[in-house]
This record gives sequence, structure tokens and C-alpha cells, in this order.
Amino acid sequence: MSKGINTQAVLAMRGAGYYSERTAGARHVINDAGTMVIEALAQTPQTPRLRIADYGAADGGTSREMWDMVIGHHRANGDNRQIEMLYTDLASNDFSTLFRMMQGMQGDPGHAYQSRYENVFVHGCGTGFHRQLMADASLNLGFSATAMHYVSVKPMEIPTHLHAACADPESRAAYAQQAAQDWEHILLARAAELIVGGRFICLNFGIDEQGRYLGNTGGQHMFDHFHKYWLGLFEDGSITADEYKRASFAQYYRTMDEFCAPFNDPDSAVRKAGLKLKSCHSKLTKCPYEAAFLAAGGVGGTMSNIDYANSLIPTMRSWSETVFRTALEGRDEDDINQIVNRFYDAYRDDVAANPSGHAMDYVHIILDIEKTA
Ligand SMILES: C[S@@+](CC[C@H](N)C(=O)[O-])C[C@H]1O[C@@H](n2cnc3c(N)ncnc32)[C@H](O)[C@@H]1O
Repeated sequence: MSKGINTQAVLAMRGAGYYSERTAGARHVINDAGTMVIEALAQTPQTPRLRIADYGAADGGTSREMWDMVIGHHRANGDNRQIEMLYTDLASNDFSTLFRMMQGMQGDPGHAYQSRYENVFVHGCGTGFHRQLMADASLNLGFSATAMHYVSVKPMEIPTHLHAACADPESRAAYAQQAAQDWEHILLARAAELIVGGRFICLNFGIDEQGRYLGNTGGQHMFDHFHKYWLGLFEDGSITADEYKRASFAQYYRTMDEFCAPFNDPDSAVRKAGLKLKSCHSKLTKCPYEAAFLAAGGVGGTMSNIDYANSLIPTMRSWSETVFRTALEGRDEDDINQIVNRFYDAYRDDVAANPSGHAMDYVHIILDIEKTA
């Protein structure tokens, strides 16, 4: 691994089910990919048993309905092969919520496929996906949603913003280089794990052909708002210069060209490892919280502005809070809670004052990759 600021011990979605309960958009994105997963699995070799991996699964709640659908489809079609489901995430992830979800002890038991179907074995792996996580040639299908934009280390703190997508050229180049190296490691690890004919489907946050990315799709710019409130806390003396600087997201949104680069070069290690890109396209998923607000008539309709703000901010908070908490490390817990609450309250109050354009649309680059040799 390259030198840089290691964030993996602390990088985690908010636990105890908070993440998946407030992340309807991520669930929609995954559910929409269900058909693609079923079709890909149908084209993989008929091995005696099926092994599937969900990389960067968080608490498992957002993909559970899709896996329930995929497994249900197999069983309904008479495919009774044993299925091993391997959920991967970082060691800091809340795996116990994940295991409870699959056994129907938390969340909607209707999708607790482990208890609904025979011969489905659920496992967890707490090692990051930049490394090989299972034995050579043992994986039928790998899947990952909204996870591989996390870089393995932060190459530097971004001095004037929070996110590489909005950073100065030097910081952006450093994150781009880290992300390119990480993408190669991710792909080489999957090349080792997959059986010949196996598939890797990933739905990654990225930058589309129109330059759009998460929270920046034409309306209010989410990361600029994050930055504004964080800078405000520094300017009013609530946080130190160091804390201001430490809140760089360990993320990089690759462009389509960056995702495709290792596949376009016939001499790349990825091509030599037998991986082939079958398809790559971008997809915009509208913010479900804004959609509900607009369906209720928008401003002046049946949902109040504050109710809209109170539905939107938690979905942003579910994945971003860890960055701000980590930046405040060293303070006592009450202090951290108070500062972080003020940060999100400022955002909520802005949305409530004028909801127009505030939303969190998702932009994904969807790749279907095959291990050919
Ligand atoms: C935004 S959540 C997405 C969760 C779920 N896949 C979804 O689509 O709703 C990103 C997840 O990626 C995980 N993650 C980040 N870096 C990782 C790494 N190097 N290895 C494994 N998981 C990682 C995070 O811990 C988090 O659970």
C-alpha cells in the first residue's frame, strides 16, 4: 500500500441499521441491478455450488431485497445448488447488524433470505476489497454497490475543500493517482478470486459524461454545502484549523475513462489477468426524498419544508458523519456530538428555509466485467 493517511480503521457507515434504514436511494440502485445480476449468473459456468460476494456491503440492508430476489429466482427455477454469500466490508463495519438482518432478527423479516431458503450460507469478511479475500478461482459472481469510490488511503488532506471532485488541481491529481492504483488492485484481486466465466458487477459512484456526480446534478451542490458549514465552524472558532483540514473525504469519483482505462490497454496487468469489460454505462438515480417531497406538492404542498429537510439530511448523514467525527478525534464524545449536530442542523435549516434544488441524486458508473481466462 502507498504512503498516505490511513482511514480504514475508522471509515464506517453509521451503525445499528441507521445506514440502510435511511438510504432508500442506495437500495433502489441495487434493486434496479437485480435483473443484470440474474442474467450474469445465468451465464456463469454451472459449478456444483455458487459462491457470491457483496463487497462493501455495510449493514447488508440495502442489498438484502435484491439478493432475496436473486436467490428466490434461482430456487423458483429449480436451481437448488448450495449458495455461499460472502459479505465484505472493513473491520470497522457493523457486521452484527448485518448477520441479524439476514437471520430476520432486524429489519423486515420478509427479505431475510437466509431463513427463507435452504442451503444458503452467509459469511462475513472484514478485510478491505483492495486485497484478495478468498481462494483462487472460487467465486462465481462478485457484486459491489456504491463502495469502490473509497480510496485505500488519503494521499493528502485537501487544503481548500472536502472532496477530491471539488479540489484544487494538485490535490485532485494526488487522489486520481491513488484511485487508479486502487482500481488496479481491486480488479487484480477479483481476477484471482473469480472462476473462469465468473462475473464482477459493480455499481460505482463516479462522474458521468455530463460531469455530474453525487449531489451535483444541476441543483444545489451538496459537497459545496458540506464545505460551507464546516468552514463556518472553523471561522466561528468552533473547530481548529487542523480539524477543518482533516475532514477530507477518503473518496474519489472516477470518470468513465478512468474506469475503462485498464480494459482499453492490451498490455495492462488487468487484461493480462484475464478480465474483460463487457459493458459500462452511467446511470442517474433521482433522490427518493426529493421525489416524495415533489409528489406531495413541493413547497406549499402537504409535506412541510422542515419535514422534507428532516428526511433528506439523515440520508446524507448516514455515510458522511464518520468523516466529520474522525476529524474531531481527541475531543470528548459530547463535544463531538454537539459540533456534528450543529453542522447537520445548519444544513437542515438551509433546506427548510428554501428546499428548492436541495436533493441527493445518485450518479453511478455501472460495469459488467468477466473473467475470461
Ligand atoms: C456507501 S456504503 C455502501 C453500502 C452498500 N453497498 C450500498 O450500496 O448501500 C460504502 C461501504 O463501503 C465500505 N468500504 C469502504 N472502503 C472499503 C474497503 N476498502 N473495503 C471494503 N469495504 C469498504 C464502507 O465501510 C461502507 O460500508
